[in-house]
Amino acid sequence: MAAMSLSSSSSQMISSGGGGFVDRELKTRRRWSGVGVRVRASDAKAEPDLSVSVNGLHMPNPFVIGSGPPGTNYTVMKRAFDEGWGAVIAKTVSLDAAKVINVTPRYARLRAGANGSTKGQIIGWENIELISDRPLETMLNEFKKLKEEYPDRILIASIMEEYNKDAWEELIERVEETGVDAFEVNFSCPHGMPERKMGAAVGQDCALLEEVCGWINAKATIPVWAKMTPNITDITQPARVALRSGCEGVAAINTIMSVMGINLDTLRPEPCVEGYSTPGGYSSKAVHPIALGKVMNIAKMMKSEFNIDEYSLSGIGGVETGGDAVEFILLGANSVQVCTGVMMHGYGLVKKLCSELKDFMRKHNFSSIEEFRGLSLPYFTTHTDLVRRQKEAIQQRKAIKQGLQSDKDWTGDGFVKETESMVSN
Ligand SMILES: Cc1cc2nc3c(=O)[nH]c(=O)nc-3n(C[C@H](O)[C@H](O)[C@H](O)COP(=O)(O)O)c2cc1C
Repeated sequence: MAAMSLSSSSSQMISSGGGGFVDRELKTRRRWSGVGVRVRASDAKAEPDLSVSVNGLHMPNPFVIGSGPPGTNYTVMKRAFDEGWGAVIAKTVSLDAAKVINVTPRYARLRAGANGSTKGQIIGWENIELISDRPLETMLNEFKKLKEEYPDRILIASIMEEYNKDAWEELIERVEETGVDAFEVNFSCPHGMPERKMGAAVGQDCALLEEVCGWINAKATIPVWAKMTPNITDITQPARVALRSGCEGVAAINTIMSVMGINLDTLRPEPCVEGYSTPGGYSSKAVHPIALGKVMNIAKMMKSEFNIDEYSLSGIGGVETGGDAVEFILLGANSVQVCTGVMMHGYGLVKKLCSELKDFMRKHNFSSIEEFRGLSLPYFTTHTDLVRRQKEAIQQRKAIKQGLQSDKDWTGDGFVKETESMVSN
């Protein structure tokens, strides 16, 4: 597709699939867009400010509960707000929860012990869990209650539906009525749902994605983030389509398609359900470098083709420390999601994340998140460019070592120093 640069001031017609178009200016008028507002504290010694403004959503810090078990019901989402998470994304909901049938066990873990010891630290987590199996009405009542009790906190609904315009419109309407602040659309669940043309089946097919994003963005009046699957050759393609089709942001990554392992006693794969298994989604520390790679690719694409002040990026994958989160922000992420990390360490993890993020900011004298967001992105280049840069650097070092490169470079003033620069001992 041809590159395009969107300006916040110009009205852009964006394809909504099926031959239709969405007027971006009209849509942004409906949604207050406040991504990327640069705030500089006047006093450099003041406490670092962790607050962020993403698509007009104000969060006390950039740490967001990623969709999954940590956002599965009222009790746990309330706990997340009380502990201080910047925002909560609920477990993905669809119209008919009766179609969602989970199995147990549905998790399997990888430990990094010496010689394959099962006692080492957990570094990888596989799940074959589906989206929420709780009735939609129950989830909607809980969203409403949470928004009534925490009107200033950001609650994001994760939604997924079958390839059916009416179903998407009904879901959006019913969820919006609860007062949630934004949608994250799950175009990325790798197991179970693709069999029903949902989740990753949409995120892996750009034509389908464009059409479905068109339906969603013509209906939704709150910001929409498209959650991307890493199970695709080039993640920038669906990310570009989602943004061009009216989404305000992209979130990456969902889990990576995996087989956790085979039990060498029973010869059966894990997680083992009645002797059988199915490939599942991989998460936790082991996926962090892969997630950074995907987020870097999306961020570069967004920077070169879109007005990044108008669109947002949410980094997800293997975050357990403030440093892990900083890496996503240095690549350009506006917010950072945590799912498996919360399952392993509990909701109090946010306090450690905030304190480690502050330590990093103090060390570098950053007073706001915007001051360092995207700072590391320009340092990614092509391998060919690395070769060119290294060749140049070696030539320069040789020149310094060997002194003058040519007799014409001798000067009268620096004559003695120039002579010394060419002596070997
Ligand atoms: C048990 C489990 C259930 C999940 N359920 C959902 C879901 O319902 N919707 C969704 O968009 N992502 C879901 N995810 C994916 C996470 O939100 C996240 O994208 C992924 O796990 C990578 O981040 P992490 O390493 O912090 O867990 C789930 C992940 C796990 C581990």
